[in-house]
Amino acid sequence: MRIALRTTIAALLPLCLLAAPTLRAQAVAKPNDEALEARVTQLLAKLTPEQKLELLGGVNGFYTHAEPSIGLPALRMADGPMGIRNPGPSTAYPAGIALAATFDAELAFAEGSALGRDAKSRGVHFLLGPGVNIYRAPLNGRNFEYFGEDPFLASRLAVGYIQGVQSQGVAATVKHFALNNEEYDRHRINAVVDERTLHEIYLPAFEAAVKEAHVAAIMNSYNLVNGEHATQSNFLNNQLAKHDWKFDGIIMSDWNSTYDGVAAANAGLDLEMPSAKFMSPANLNGKVSQEIIDDKVRRLLRVAVKMGWLDHEQASSAPADDPASRAVAHRAALESVVMLKNRDALLPLDPASICTLAVIGPHANEAQVGGGGSSLVKPTAALSLVEALRATFPAHDHCPGVQYEAGVPDSKEVFASTSFVHGVRLEQFTSKDESGTARSSSAEHLVPLAKQEKGSPIHSVHYVADFKPSTPGKQLVVLQAGYQDDLTLIANGKELLRVRAPEGHTVLSAIVDLDANATLHLDLTGQVTQGPDGIGLGVTSLKTLVSKSATALAAKADAVLLNVGFDASTEGEGFDRSFELPGGQEELIAAVSALNKKTTVAINAGGGVAMTPWIESVPAVLHLWYGGEEGAPALAEILSGKQSPEGHLPISIEHSFAENPAHDSYFPGAGSTPTQPRITLSEGVMLGYRAYATSGVKPLFPFGFGLSYTSFTFAHLHVDKTPQGVQVSVDVKNTGTHSGGEAVQVYVSDPSASIKRPALELKAFRKVHLDPRKRSICSSRSTAAPSLTGASSAMVGRSIPAISSSPSAITARTSPDGRAHD
Ligand code: BGC
Repeated sequence: MRIALRTTIAALLPLCLLAAPTLRAQAVAKPNDEALEARVTQLLAKLTPEQKLELLGGVNGFYTHAEPSIGLPALRMADGPMGIRNPGPSTAYPAGIALAATFDAELAFAEGSALGRDAKSRGVHFLLGPGVNIYRAPLNGRNFEYFGEDPFLASRLAVGYIQGVQSQGVAATVKHFALNNEEYDRHRINAVVDERTLHEIYLPAFEAAVKEAHVAAIMNSYNLVNGEHATQSNFLNNQLAKHDWKFDGIIMSDWNSTYDGVAAANAGLDLEMPSAKFMSPANLNGKVSQEIIDDKVRRLLRVAVKMGWLDHEQASSAPADDPASRAVAHRAALESVVMLKNRDALLPLDPASICTLAVIGPHANEAQVGGGGSSLVKPTAALSLVEALRATFPAHDHCPGVQYEAGVPDSKEVFASTSFVHGVRLEQFTSKDESGTARSSSAEHLVPLAKQEKGSPIHSVHYVADFKPSTPGKQLVVLQAGYQDDLTLIANGKELLRVRAPEGHTVLSAIVDLDANATLHLDLTGQVTQGPDGIGLGVTSLKTLVSKSATALAAKADAVLLNVGFDASTEGEGFDRSFELPGGQEELIAAVSALNKKTTVAINAGGGVAMTPWIESVPAVLHLWYGGEEGAPALAEILSGKQSPEGHLPISIEHSFAENPAHDSYFPGAGSTPTQPRITLSEGVMLGYRAYATSGVKPLFPFGFGLSYTSFTFAHLHVDKTPQGVQVSVDVKNTGTHSGGEAVQVYVSDPSASIKRPALELKAFRKVHLDPRKRSICSSRSTAAPSLTGASSAMVGRSIPAISSSPSAITARTSPDGRAHD
């Protein structure tokens, strides 16, 4: 089979736009521009200045205002990006980072189309996705929504996804424009970046969304970019998007990301969501020219006319729970799992030879469809790993099949079981700074209540407790804060944990070492936004953390599937997460892998996690990301060998966070004040694999890496000059015994560049599915300027190959990265 992959290789032109693999043409009726503009002009002319102003702000949470006089309905919006959250339930697709791990732009189109149909069946006009912010560091709480660290990969997936959504007559909304690469203090953080980095790394996916996919809407982010709120950035909105890229759709704010109505309106924001708090008629009247207001209304009308919303009802008769959508979600989940390690071919497991499969892990008994926040979809139906594996590894002939243990307590169990010496002394204040007379009481435990009392008169707290270990040694201290609480936990006089208000509602933990007679004096102070009910505090010994029932199960089982990582409460919107696995899970891996040599670690996370402490002790590791509602059945198929893993890392995974080029500039630094935090993206274009390939540092797992149950060879790499540039082709052969998928990746370099460039940059990829002993030929066509092509080198690989020292070297990789864990 010969597969032609057409793309553009433009390694030498930092601002070049790269073409997508050919996807189906947009099916939305595209009125010819003149007729379209004439109709928009007519509609606009019928509106009074007051009616126009009213269209600049949302209403009822997720709608625009209707204007019955011109037949404009209230336009409905829905999150996004991995399923229709509102109204749910609906098909929950794998996380954005999981889609990126498929390296399959055509699948992105299929998922976009399915999402478009799901949206339409609910009468949704605007889907609030895709999210295309670049993965800069593993800590970002929303990495799971996005497409990884590479701008080319992100662009291709964004284009496929948007074309799919819009092919159904639904507007896609590319977000969050721009530089929303962390959740830390997201309303106030000022991301300072140079123009080259912005254009080479952080903007290409937005630019491709506009220029290639003709996205209907852009959503501005919360943060500031080079000192200006994104909603107030003339540079981002007017200059780049509307002028340079010729964007003719609407720029909407994120929900409450408008901070100054007049400044935003003049800087190019067209629609304030969820309501016109700042871009209100009263605020704008007389301060923003009629020409600017007309342009905003014109944009909204243009999208509505283009999509046909003035001509027909948006709600379709498609089923709300569509089996076709579920099938796409299943395929995406299957393609997204990345096998990082498979020593001695432990995987796949043969169900017939397994009497007891231990499934251990705090989240394995509940479906983990996604991370937390506005993207979290209530699935139509979803199985937990335990349920899905029970169906694949059933009980048979006196064999129990799957047995489950959580292994470590969840935070609420830690809170409820902590015995403080004399309970907790509570002082609660109506002031915000623990001044004035305290309401004093005491409690045996500090367990957060599910429902926090809104409008509570308590605004700050001071809690004190002493803890004596019943088992000396390392102790895990766990703190939970309520929504937007700002708390500091001091342990024996030193700050141990800090929850900052903008980080929202999260669970943090830290480890302290205590001798037999030591006392841990805990002092918790700070502001509580919605009353004190959201606070939880507990301490537990790491030695006794792993349950005896879990270790007993691990010891007797034929094999263990150990599910670790995060869930929607520990990784999500509004807060960042740790690189380390939370809640004593590293101890769980150590205990279980010591007792069972057939342990497979399966990770739920939106990016990399710290694996150095345990990677050598486990034979097999799978990265599951968040697999949507089909994630668990997909894993069962992979574990049992029905399907080979074929995902490839859309990120680099470091040995430690310190290795990451953004490590020193992730949190606010020079030039920051507490109310004006600032980060400088000082690593520039050298992030992720670009940095590692250039410096020679080898991360634990490189970008593009992923193992399979079969093997592939690459041969006969040809790079041919064409009038437009170069065409790269390579034979790919499945030399193993299992069907499988391979992501062919083309990297280029420019050794003669006059400025420092990354040693490798991904410029083409193609997913190939091959049966055993079948051969496929991939070719990739470049349209880079011919005069420059002679200086580039192309490399094709499953993962980043060794850096070539020869300027014109062309390397074909014939096997997976040999240095990786096997
Ligand atoms: C998120 C957006 C989302 C919006 C509406 C915001 O908090 O940042 O991504 O689309 O809420 O739910």
